Amino acid sequence: MTNMRTVYVNGEYLPETEAKISIFDRGFLMADGVYEVTSVLDGKLIDFDGHAKRLQRSLDELEMSCPVSMEELLAIHRELVAKNDIIEGMVYLQVTRGAPGDRDFVFPDPEETPGSVVLFTQSKPGLADSPAAKTGIKIISIEDIRWGRRDIKTVQLLYPSMAKMMAKKAGCDDAWLVEDGVVTEGTSNNAYIVRGGKIITRELSNDILHGITRAAVLRFAREAQMVIEERAFTIEEAQAADEAFVTSASTFVMPVVELDGSPIGSGAPGPVAARLREIYLDESRKAAI
Ligand code: PDD
Repeated sequence: MTNMRTVYVNGEYLPETEAKISIFDRGFLMADGVYEVTSVLDGKLIDFDGHAKRLQRSLDELEMSCPVSMEELLAIHRELVAKNDIIEGMVYLQVTRGAPGDRDFVFPDPEETPGSVVLFTQSKPGLADSPAAKTGIKIISIEDIRWGRRDIKTVQLLYPSMAKMMAKKAGCDDAWLVEDGVVTEGTSNNAYIVRGGKIITRELSNDILHGITRAAVLRFAREAQMVIEERAFTIEEAQAADEAFVTSASTFVMPVVELDGSPIGSGAPGPVAARLREIYLDESRKAAI
C-alpha cells in the first residue's frame, strides 16, 4: 500500500495501521497528555530545542514523566522524517500519563504506569510557499472559555476545535479568543497587530501558550531593530491596526487581513508580516537540524 506511514509508539516503529494505544490510556480517557508540533523544512527540524524545552516544562507542570529522554526524542524525530521521506511537513509528538488498566481520577504511580509516547509525521509539500501567506487569512473573534493553564500544551483541544468550526461556518479561516475584553491568542497560534511600525503581542503568562515561533519571531524582529510592545490588545484596536498576523510552528508567520468582517489596513497582507515571514523562514532553515 502506498502512503502507509511509519509511526512510533512506545519504543517501536510500526506501520500506522499496526500502532496501538490502550483504551485505558489517560490521554484517551482524560486528555491527560501533552504534545508538540515541530515543523520540517528541507527534511530538517525547525527549532527542535525550543520544542523539547517546552515539552519538558509541560511535563514538569503536570508532574508527568516521559519514559524517553530528549536526546532519544530527537533521534526518533529524525528517524521518522527519514523513514517517511518528509521534505516539508511536521512531526507530531504526544506524551500521556499512560494506561493504568482502569479509569481513576487519581494519577497512577509513574513507577508502575509508564507514560505513553506516540510520534507521527504529516507531509505538507508547499508548506513554506503556502498560498494563504500571499492572500492572508480571515478571522472571527469569540469568547475564550478555555481553562486557566494555557501555558501547558495539553491535548485538551475540544474548544479550539469548536472555535475553528465556528470560524468555518462564518466563512472564515480561524478565530481569535477574547477574555476580559482583550485577545488572548488564536485557536492554535499567537496573535499580533502592527501599529505605526510597532509590533504588539500579548505578554507571556498562564493565559497563553508560550509559542516557540513567537520567541523566534520576536528575537528576529529585535535583531532587525523593530519595536515590540508586549501587551494585550482589544478587537477594536486590531481592527484599526495597520496589519495583523499570527505565528505557529505549522503556519510560521501568517498575515490576517480581516477581523469580524472588517478589513485590517489595506485588506491585503502587510509589509511587516511579509518581512518577518521571510526572515523567520530564512533563519530557521539555516538553524534547522
Ligand atoms: N499549535 N497558541 C496555541 C493555543 C497553540 O496551540 C499554538 C501551537 C501556538 C503557537 O505555538 P508554536 O509557535 O510553538 O507552534 C500558540 C500547534 C501548532 C498545533 O496545535 O497544531
